[in-house]
Amino acid sequence: MFVSENLSVNEKNHLVIGKNDTVELAEKFGTPLYVLDEDLFRKNCRIYKEAIEKYYDGNGLVLYANKALCCMHTCKVVAEEGLGADVVSGGELYTAIKAGFPMDKIYFHGNNKTPDEIDLAVKSGVSHIVVDNVYELDKVNAAAEKYGTVQPIMFRIKPGIDAHTHNFVRTGQIDSKFGVALENGEAFDIVKRAMEYKNVTVDGVHCHIGSQIFDIEPFCLAAEVMMRFIGEVKSKLGLEVKKLNLGGGYGIRYTENDDPIEYGEYIKHVSDVVKKAAAENNVDVPFILMEPGRSIVAPAGITLYTVGGIKDIKNVRKYVSVDGGMCDNPRYILYGSDYTAVAANHASDKYEEVVTVAGKCCESGDLILENKLMQKLEVGDTLAVLATGAYNYSMASNYNRIPRPPIVAVSNGEAKVIVKRETYDDLIANDVP
Ligand code: LLP
Repeated sequence: MFVSENLSVNEKNHLVIGKNDTVELAEKFGTPLYVLDEDLFRKNCRIYKEAIEKYYDGNGLVLYANKALCCMHTCKVVAEEGLGADVVSGGELYTAIKAGFPMDKIYFHGNNKTPDEIDLAVKSGVSHIVVDNVYELDKVNAAAEKYGTVQPIMFRIKPGIDAHTHNFVRTGQIDSKFGVALENGEAFDIVKRAMEYKNVTVDGVHCHIGSQIFDIEPFCLAAEVMMRFIGEVKSKLGLEVKKLNLGGGYGIRYTENDDPIEYGEYIKHVSDVVKKAAAENNVDVPFILMEPGRSIVAPAGITLYTVGGIKDIKNVRKYVSVDGGMCDNPRYILYGSDYTAVAANHASDKYEEVVTVAGKCCESGDLILENKLMQKLEVGDTLAVLATGAYNYSMASNYNRIPRPPIVAVSNGEAKVIVKRETYDDLIANDVP
């Protein structure tokens, strides 16, 4: 019945997550409320880590992609699980620093890092900066010179692989703002240029072909193409590139129609491809990195809302409004994303009527579910939207000056606030009257 493995229904017919009754969570912490099942979050970290150990002799590191969900507590959990982290802005980096995340496991991404961000990254001693373009290469070299150090870098490369996913989250093809392309020689040229610089060392190459991808094939193809490039760099420039970062992008189940690959299976396949390609291209088997975000944290999260006004417009549709919306989950308005929802206070009731769940923002497209079969919803019901752990809190806004909801982490019957609810005073904190 549920798209995520961590949910069940108790004797009161209430939805349960991490041994916590969601109706009680809603009463205690208020709604809208993000709930994060910390045990599942940790379990998903381990699945990747163990797969690298099993299929790639431990010769790799899993980097949790912070853009999916980043706060000090998640940084702490990821560090405890022994993963590294991908950060994509000064803000994510700062959060990791403040959470005490080991800097020698941080990879800094972004297609237009500002000079201040680059300065902070070099000064903090991040493991690698994933350089996107020539402008950035120069800035990183200059910052490293300023701090009297040599900064290990990787290059973000467009392997020319077209992953079949939503247009806004495809990134591997030449027409993308991210990275340098292989097919027009840009990638080769930037490596060559970097080799002349004194304060950077080219340690790896990186690609990320997109997000919410269900096939193994494009990942294997990308790995093959990248290995060929490593071979070309070695044969033409005499440089042995030691690390291969294959990005993230593994799809998850938002609805029954989604059929994600098993993540261990993915690593097994890609490991085989990389090892074989290393032999074919006459290079060493590289240290491998991958950057899952969504697949680690999305299934571990749900959002709880309270149902407010219901409008049954005859011969048109039935709108059920909730007390959040695009401000806490902009994925429908951005991508038309589909979700599964459950009436948390009568969770095993049958799905019997088609409704549209609308948010409270002043925007007609502010929907959470559109024309979906739902359980009969009434005013005051608690509605749980499932698999919202990724790209919900991290993409939330204060549109309409709506305070962002808190995040509560649950584990084995315990519930703890890890991000506080914003207050109206938080909203005006930076205003200068
Ligand atoms: N590495 C890089 C360089 C990335 O750009 C991304 C995602 C990831 C790793 C993690 O990908 P994941 O495993 O989470 O798919 N806001 C969109 C998703 C944007 C993904 C951006 N980059 C959404 O809500 O679907």
